[in-house]
Amino acid sequence: MDPSRDPGRGARPEVWVNCAASFDGRLAYADGARARLSSSEDLVRVQKLRRDSDAILVGVGTVVKDDPSLRVHWELLGEPVGRNPTRVVVDGSGRTPESARVLDATTPTIIATSRRSTRHFPPHVRVVVCGERRVEIPELFLRLHDLGVRRILVEGGAAILSSVLRSGLFDRLTVYTAPVGIGGATAPPVLAGPETRGSDETVDLHLVGIDRVGEGFVATYTPRRDPEPRPAPLG
Ligand SMILES: NC(=O)c1ccc[n+]([C@@H]2O[C@H](COP(=O)([O-])OP(=O)(O)OC[C@H]3O[C@@H](n4cnc5c(N)ncnc54)[C@H](OP(=O)(O)O)[C@@H]3O)[C@@H](O)[C@H]2O)c1
Repeated sequence: MDPSRDPGRGARPEVWVNCAASFDGRLAYADGARARLSSSEDLVRVQKLRRDSDAILVGVGTVVKDDPSLRVHWELLGEPVGRNPTRVVVDGSGRTPESARVLDATTPTIIATSRRSTRHFPPHVRVVVCGERRVEIPELFLRLHDLGVRRILVEGGAAILSSVLRSGLFDRLTVYTAPVGIGGATAPPVLAGPETRGSDETVDLHLVGIDRVGEGFVATYTPRRDPEPRPAPLG
């Protein structure tokens, strides 16, 4: 199947998902406090992913907690300043802070929202409505494709990673694993969302490669559409 199409639907962009996690699979400290998990080598790798994407997508939770610029840090690549990807914020209720860096006018920004939002954004920000109460990710991807986005980099946070990974609408997942443990009950995990009750609800992947990056490693996966049953526990 052409990976840019889903059965019965229109075309969607190629979707890359990337995140940095502790060795126990956490994205941040307790209650979402920002953790610096990427090594300097990994930050360069992420800038290349951004440079090679048409758009970078995060959830509004990440904008509120981290206030990222979502721009390519060209200085880390040692390259002249080039085109920055469009920034996409999934913000179903319109709670992106007015002071958020993603709302500056330096780089195009799309706010993906739902019909329950009454928020008005500055004129340089494009607003797309994709759902009644939350942003429907499949619809958003179709809309982004219509707007010319051919490759999108999904960077988080926990709720968005869960929605995208559980939807199966992605082509590649890279996880940088840092040599640090976070633990606890409230630190957000790579795969949040509803409780998984059985193998029919897991997110199944093919492992494509593992690369050492500084003191950590990057695992690259593709979605597994036809998982083979795993052997029963030996007991
Ligand atoms: N380590 C990493 O690589 C990395 C990367 C990015 C972020 N993070 C961390 O992740 C944490 C933030 O994660 P988060 O889960 O709080 O927020 P998030 O995933 O960034 O944003 C989630 C919010 O998006 C909105 N939303 C609308 N439609 C949605 C949909 N279909 N699926 C999911 N969300 C939808 C919801 O807010 P509304 O209901 O208001 O619309 C939801 O609360 C922070 O701690 C940040 O530091 C880590």
